[in-house]
Amino acid sequence: MRAETATEWSVRTWKERHERGLWSDEWARNGGNTIEVGTYCGVSAAETAKQHLNGIIYSVDSFAGDHARYPSAHKMYVLNRGQNMRLFIGTFQQMVAEVGWPHDVTTVVVDGGHLYDSCRADLITATENLHYGSILVHDYTCVCFQDTVKRACDEVMGQWELFAIFDTTAIFRK
Ligand SMILES: C[S@@+](CC[C@H](N)C(=O)[O-])C[C@H]1O[C@@H](n2cnc3c(N)ncnc32)[C@H](O)[C@@H]1O
Repeated sequence: MRAETATEWSVRTWKERHERGLWSDEWARNGGNTIEVGTYCGVSAAETAKQHLNGIIYSVDSFAGDHARYPSAHKMYVLNRGQNMRLFIGTFQQMVAEVGWPHDVTTVVVDGGHLYDSCRADLITATENLHYGSILVHDYTCVCFQDTVKRACDEVMGQWELFAIFDTTAIFRK
């Protein structure tokens, strides 16, 4: 039997995850455009983008984080990319400094660096620039990210309502 490719694995596991549709639902609620911090192969972005052809997904990835061992991630992103997907290569902070905050963003998905400092920096960037909508944080409930992702959320997201937790994803709304 042939082994799955990285993209096939990503699509299969993404579709099996209980979190499927969360991003799409929040985006549908909020309208506008969305930012994904940490896109990896762009699979979640591509699946979501197909359901929101009137909006744009701005994805950000340094391609130098935990997944840097997968040198094909950027190539995979390009293969998976839909017409309404844009990519900035670098950190979220570099994107805002170099090209600015994209127009009409209402939804931010935080799934980039999972260390405390990088997650905290991403949440601060999101909350400083987003004044209405949803911030989805992946891996909020994962045992191995309690001192990093969850701690950063608990410190930074005070002005936002923790609307729901589905599986490992926390949805904050304002
Ligand atoms: C968990 S993966 C993202 C998975 C993707 N959201 C999905 O659903 O398929 C995390 C990604 O964040 C990127 N990353 C790690 N640290 C980062 C940072 N400080 N800034 C931007 N991207 C980062 C990694 O290169 C990796 O591709």
